[in-house]
Amino acid sequence: MFITFEGGDGSGKSTQIAKLKDALQVKGFDVVLTREPGGTPISEKIRQVILDKDNQGMTPVTEALLYAAARAQLVRQVIIPALEEGRIVICDRFLDSSIAYQGFGRQLGDAVDNINQYAIAGCMPDLTIFLKLDPASGRERIGSREKDRIEMESDAFHQRVAEGYRWLEENYPERILAVDASQSIEEIAAKIEAAVMERIHAL
Ligand code: TMP
Repeated sequence: MFITFEGGDGSGKSTQIAKLKDALQVKGFDVVLTREPGGTPISEKIRQVILDKDNQGMTPVTEALLYAAARAQLVRQVIIPALEEGRIVICDRFLDSSIAYQGFGRQLGDAVDNINQYAIAGCMPDLTIFLKLDPASGRERIGSREKDRIEMESDAFHQRVAEGYRWLEENYPERILAVDASQSIEEIAAKIEAAVMERIHAL
């Protein structure tokens, strides 16, 4: 089973991913945790290039292709082999992030999905948990910690990203489960665990 987590910056993804991993491991499942952009030595190097604050001149197309390149490596080196071994893969962000950030945020539109179909080679998540939080609260939660090149983007950019996630939620209701990220950590974790267990039993 392939599970991805999505959400704007500051939505609490890392906390919830760690909680889900622990909960599944306690139940005896073999869990592989990975992240995007990154998750392999090559993809982590690509991540550094993408998020480097000094790369202000990066064009939106270059950015979209670099995310897709990091993804192509991760899918082939980590995700597909783990799924073939019957393990549960949890990935912090995946294709939906590119649709929201590059497709909507950078306004590249459908081109993002097209290049990514090549990158993912048919490997789509069985379930995507979308931690939903308005961008202003997310940015408040990030607070004063140092921001990467994407987090430094304008409020208008982050509003478009939020619109992208709304579009995804409406278009893929069977795959994407939106969870209100303003609830308590325990409430959110319980909802996610229940949804994941339901899917596991259905599979
Ligand atoms: P992270 O902070 O969740 O590790 O993600 C790094 C940043 O990259 C985050 O601001 C979201 C952004 N991102 C994209 O713009 N497109 C993508 O395809 C992915 C995976 C992440």
